Amino acid sequence: MPLDPQWDYRFPYRHLYPADHYKYTRMLFECFLDPSYDDWLVTVVEDSFEPGGETSVVSFGVWDVSYINKRRYAVIDVEEWGGRTRRDANHEHFNEFWKGQIRAYKKFFGSIGPDQLHLQILATLPDFQRRGHASSLC
Ligand SMILES: CC(C)(COP(=O)(O)OP(=O)(O)OC[C@H]1O[C@@H](n2cnc3c(N)ncnc32)[C@H](O)[C@@H]1OP(=O)(O)O)[C@@H](O)C(=O)NCCC(=O)NCCS
Repeated sequence: MPLDPQWDYRFPYRHLYPADHYKYTRMLFECFLDPSYDDWLVTVVEDSFEPGGETSVVSFGVWDVSYINKRRYAVIDVEEWGGRTRRDANHEHFNEFWKGQIRAYKKFFGSIGPDQLHLQILATLPDFQRRGHASSLC
């Protein structure tokens, strides 16, 4: 997510260690797509460059639906499978970001209680942005 400022904050060494960056990003996304992690719901939009051309996934949303089922949590598992020592990340920034998320969650959503879902990731390929894909995923 290079357009997202927090990505540079959490992963400032991603250009020095692209293999680590790829490995752990891919690992997390595989968990999101793995049906055994039923605390995530992934939605996608397919589109093509040409009208009627071959389509592929150009936009996706990952929803945290762990309020239904908290048995397995992909983010924690990736941390335990080496994520805590990945070289592309600034781990101090990583922890601060995590703590900030918890503070924000309590401040803005705490009064709602546990029965809520969160949009974890929303992204559209640059060539397909401003076509309403992210809006339709929400
Ligand atoms: C944010 C993002 C998902 C929007 O995707 P999209 O498919 O282009 O979104 P939409 O076409 O549905 O646009 C919805 C609205 O978002 C706003 N928006 C989208 N891109 C914007 C941009 N670059 N600058 C300002 N507003 C923007 C607009 O209000 C837009 O409505 P409009 O076109 O009627 O003005 C996309 O820009 C993206 O993938 N960014 C990089 C990934 C990222 O950083 N994701 C967040 C971290 S998880």
